[in-house]
Amino acid sequence: MWHGRFQQDTAADLKKFSESVSFDWRLYPYDIDGSLAHAAALTEAGLLTPEENQAIGKGLLEIRADIEKGAFAFDPGLEDIHMNIEAALTRRIGDAGAKLHTARSRNDQVALDLRLYLRAETGAVQMCLRGLQRALTALAVRYREVIFPGYTHLQRAQPVFFAHHLLAYVEMFQRDFDRLEDGRKRIGVLPLGSGALAGSSIALDREFIARRLGFEAVSQNSMDAVADRDFACEFLAGCALIGMHLSRLSEDLILWASAEFNFITLSDAYTTGSSLMPQKKNPDVAELTRGKTGRLYGNLFSLLTTLKGLPMTYNRDMQEDKEPLFDSIDTVKASLSICAAMLGETRLNEERLASSVADANLLATDLADYLVERGVPFRAAHAVIGKAVALCHEKNTTLRALPLEDYQALSPVFQRDLFEALDLRKAVAARRATGAPSPQNVAAQLKKWETLLG
Ligand code: ARG
Repeated sequence: MWHGRFQQDTAADLKKFSESVSFDWRLYPYDIDGSLAHAAALTEAGLLTPEENQAIGKGLLEIRADIEKGAFAFDPGLEDIHMNIEAALTRRIGDAGAKLHTARSRNDQVALDLRLYLRAETGAVQMCLRGLQRALTALAVRYREVIFPGYTHLQRAQPVFFAHHLLAYVEMFQRDFDRLEDGRKRIGVLPLGSGALAGSSIALDREFIARRLGFEAVSQNSMDAVADRDFACEFLAGCALIGMHLSRLSEDLILWASAEFNFITLSDAYTTGSSLMPQKKNPDVAELTRGKTGRLYGNLFSLLTTLKGLPMTYNRDMQEDKEPLFDSIDTVKASLSICAAMLGETRLNEERLASSVADANLLATDLADYLVERGVPFRAAHAVIGKAVALCHEKNTTLRALPLEDYQALSPVFQRDLFEALDLRKAVAARRATGAPSPQNVAAQLKKWETLLG
């Protein structure tokens, strides 16, 4: 493709070092869509005859069909998917194929392909996020009545509904969804027409191409358009955050499945055994998901680092943008899908949970609020209840069993009705502020998500 200037063939080891078709072949549908739009614009501009345009269209669609059938021989000697497709086209249709690259460089071509690809994958990842949100919501609905110990510092804190805990993750994954959606408008900017870096003396109707490809905008600076991959960094950051959320969910599941917590039972289908210890049932799905988060972070850093020292504009370093991107997309989609499937078969150990929320200490704050409602300043109330908890420890009893006289010795404000503040359901029902886990709020949120997720 550059034989005019060179007398020597490229060294075999350089060909191997430099080729990208072994991984960028997956851009083929987008490369073909981009070329179809480009050929249409060349035709509009009178640079291709309608017959040549037709031949190009037919040839490209045949190439696409061959690739899909596995009948296309990729040649690493042709470096990348762009050159592979163009060479095959010219082989098939002759001169018209050789005209396709008019007013185009691989620099604006690869930027376009990547944007088309990422736009499609944005939708695919969003679908997977929806799948996980649905699985979380379905589990929340199944156990909608179950009260669950909420934790801070991994210490039992206050009671919530299990559904409330799961819906916290649904919210997180919604922000991940929205983040990807927001990135769409920066992905959907057409770089084609920017040439290698300085556009082309042959002016094509770039707005026409953008419309054909469903892009919202046309880039306004040809150097920017071929030089930057910030849209891909943003996408990778979005994947890293999805990984972070998935990893925390995984950590919860791993803890809950341990004998120490024993809150959930994972299905046999989504756990693995041990080759040595016959009793083991390991939460590998959650562990692998947690583990893969490292790759998602790494891929973001890989691309940021590749880009940071590059002078304007395109540099070959940028070919290194693809593998991290492909890996994050594959990893995120696989993790989201398998976590959704695992949750679908996860069951709650309701008896065990009932005994864990029977811990009256979960309601210590409610008891402090009891005093506050009767005029005691919160700090003083906090101290009184702290002493009551310490007394329970000393006497090896619980806040529910501590006699009224002991309470009254700590504060004369206590009356017999203090024990009503230790009613689990009442305590949860009292948490009515927006976002708090009262049964009404949780029911409304469940309904909202069920409607939204369909
Ligand atoms: N394979 C290259 C990449 O992925 C395509 C662009 C090559 N451009 C060039 N001037 N060598 O970045």
